[in-house]
Amino acid sequence: MTLRHFTDLSTVSETDLRSILADASARKARLKAGERSRPLDGKVLAMIFDKPSTRTRVSFDVGMRQLGGETIMLTGTEMQLGRSETIADTAKVLSRYVDAIMIRTTSHERLTELTENATIPVINGLTDDTHPCQLMADIMTFEEHRGPVAGKTFAWTGDGNNVLHSLLEASARFRFTLNVAVPQGSEPGEKFVDWSRANGGLIEFKKTAEEAVRAADCVVTDTWVSMGAEHRARGHNVFMPYQVNAALMKQAKPDALFMHCLPAHRGEEVTDEVIDGPHSVVFDEAENRLHAQKAVLAWCLGA
Ligand code: CP
Ligand code: NVA
Repeated sequence: MTLRHFTDLSTVSETDLRSILADASARKARLKAGERSRPLDGKVLAMIFDKPSTRTRVSFDVGMRQLGGETIMLTGTEMQLGRSETIADTAKVLSRYVDAIMIRTTSHERLTELTENATIPVINGLTDDTHPCQLMADIMTFEEHRGPVAGKTFAWTGDGNNVLHSLLEASARFRFTLNVAVPQGSEPGEKFVDWSRANGGLIEFKKTAEEAVRAADCVVTDTWVSMGAEHRARGHNVFMPYQVNAALMKQAKPDALFMHCLPAHRGEEVTDEVIDGPHSVVFDEAENRLHAQKAVLAWCLGA
């Protein structure tokens, strides 16, 4: 089997993404029915974290155990990586010990260097640029609640960050319209917008959050200050017009969903009323990280 890395939605084909999602739903149903199988018995996943995590860390760990495998939790600072061993050498060494690597890191180049030098599958658990595992869980969640995502309209309001970049790629891969409203100076990377458009993504930039969410099927936001971006944090008054509150949600379709990858900064990008309200599916998203990533692991490891 050729090596299967899960580095971005743009690097995995639409057909494979669809089959991963179908497998995720099937595995979720079997788990809920109490069925257990151990397709990854004897396999070991190394998890490297250069940034904090709750969901990614726990869902990969539990997911691997549910599949019969094991994990090793590593942080960059505890590894020789923190004493300037190269990513390339680390990739070659880990490839001799474990069966797959999941990494959450800073620059996307570190992920690329790891992938290029590993002889085992590498999974992107978030970089400064993208967060593809999150989008797999989000698409799964949308479709559980509202059916096929193709032809629907998503609205993003807030900072133009890594989650938005993966949402832009998802718009092309899963064929939905994406309205984007961000403050000037917080735009998403052009290459993500260009790639999405070149691959069929229907991306529309709107001047205000109200315009973006108008008649949307799903409203999505995230923190105004991503991990590692604290140095370029901007005043909250810049972002306040992009806050998802009850008045903004009223502009969306009456049955619109509200999504947030979590962790949320309540009172900033979203109010309690929305995140705890009837539109919100944020804890379903969090749960589906587990199911979607088990399917990603099974795809990468041919189980
Ligand atoms: N959504 C997400 O990736 O959460 P963590 O940072 O807790 O892993
Ligand atoms: N954009 C956020 C996502 C956290 C899961 C960050 O990078 O901090």
